[in-house]
Amino acid sequence: MIPGLGAVATTLIAGVEAVKKGLSQPIGSLTQMGHIRLGKRTENRYPKIKDFVPIADFKDIVFGGWDVYEDNVYEAAMKAKVLEPGLLNAIKAELEVVVPMKAAFDQNYAKNLVATNVKTGTRYDLAQAVMQDIKNFKQKNNCSRIVLVWCGSTEIYYEASEIHQTLAAFEQALIDDDKRISPSMIYAYSALKLGIPFANGAPNLTVDIPAMIELAKLTETPIAGKDFKTGQTLMKTILAPGLAARSLGVKGWFSTNILGNRDGLVLDDPDNFKTKEVSKLGVLEDIFKPHENPELYGDLYHKIRIDYYPPHGDNKESWDNIDIFGWLGYKMQIKINFLCRDSILAAPIALDLALFSDLAKRAQMSGIQEWLSFYLKSPQTAPGLAPENDIFKQLMKLQNTLRHMMGEDLITHLGLDYYQDLVEAM
Ligand SMILES: NC(=O)c1ccc[n+]([C@@H]2O[C@H](COP(=O)([O-])OP(=O)(O)OC[C@H]3O[C@@H](n4cnc5c(N)ncnc54)[C@H](O)[C@@H]3O)[C@@H](O)[C@H]2O)c1
Repeated sequence: MIPGLGAVATTLIAGVEAVKKGLSQPIGSLTQMGHIRLGKRTENRYPKIKDFVPIADFKDIVFGGWDVYEDNVYEAAMKAKVLEPGLLNAIKAELEVVVPMKAAFDQNYAKNLVATNVKTGTRYDLAQAVMQDIKNFKQKNNCSRIVLVWCGSTEIYYEASEIHQTLAAFEQALIDDDKRISPSMIYAYSALKLGIPFANGAPNLTVDIPAMIELAKLTETPIAGKDFKTGQTLMKTILAPGLAARSLGVKGWFSTNILGNRDGLVLDDPDNFKTKEVSKLGVLEDIFKPHENPELYGDLYHKIRIDYYPPHGDNKESWDNIDIFGWLGYKMQIKINFLCRDSILAAPIALDLALFSDLAKRAQMSGIQEWLSFYLKSPQTAPGLAPENDIFKQLMKLQNTLRHMMGEDLITHLGLDYYQDLVEAM
């Protein structure tokens, strides 16, 4: 179930329905296309992840969700203009049945939206109503399990305050209709209260507050956040580990983006942009660790801009100028011009987060799922624990978690035993 049936969510739903009908392939989804090595390299065991771990099958997935607009998923997907009308028409019947339920919303958190499909009442009432929506959906569709993935708009920037520190304070604040509880927190609270995993695709705090961590532990529920790692940040977490691995210095990294979808419209408000900026900024610092490498990264100037530019629609264009230096301090430059499709990159992430969160729940893994950092721009970690943003380490962690779940040996890539065996054989 998805709060926010916009570009990402409709691209996800249409994609799954198209794959179910054999019209397309789930490219970009690690759960569907990725393989995992098991055992020693000499064993040649390299199954697909979906054949190795018992994740839900596509044919068993049904979608539901909420939005502040009334458009069904077919209409919303046509408006988002991410996928071709030809493809959407081939799955029109499957998409039209997904009609958004009334949203738990507060205009202050996304000022650029004109909301028409919203619930009324206090925050406590809204949480009760969302829980009832989930129960009704589950019963109507005969589902054995539910997962929530937030694909709603980025909320304005806010920091955790005293009402977010404990579950008791949070529940009192719900009753008091405290404005510091954001709409996304209402969905997250409702899901966790029912023991339903919640993953956050946007940069707002949502489950990244002590009260939610406490609730997740209490109801033994997995949580993951935050912000789908697509586009420019994806490229950063691929490239920066390579530069750091070669001990090349970086003096500056200027990143700018233009995008014209509804996400871009919401981010055009400075308060909403700040939430995104904070989520994107941490990545390089975590990978380069300037305090430990002052000669290489101590002066790194990192600047990020996003501009709303309607003609580009969902086809985001980003430019990066990276000023690096090498042997004896000699300067070099790297330029990246990525003509990406935001929702095409985000949809498989939302899918994988849903499938893996559900798997985690069945594997009795509750609380923060750091192994899902691979998918996230600003990974949630235990308090005081620095996040890991290097995509290759994140992948290793994810794969080792799957091996651990299934009782397979963890892979360290040490490999000395191959040579020991060789020596003994000689
Ligand atoms: N597309 C990407 O590559 C990408 C990457 C990282 C993060 N994200 C985040 O994912 C989210 C979705 O992106 P998108 O491109 O689909 O945006 P979008 O604007 O197309 O869709 C978001 C939808 O959420 C709805 N919404 C807002 N508040 C809501 C609420 N309280 N309850 C229910 N619905 C609500 C909006 O009406 C809108 O239809 C955004 O927060 C975005 O920042 C997207």
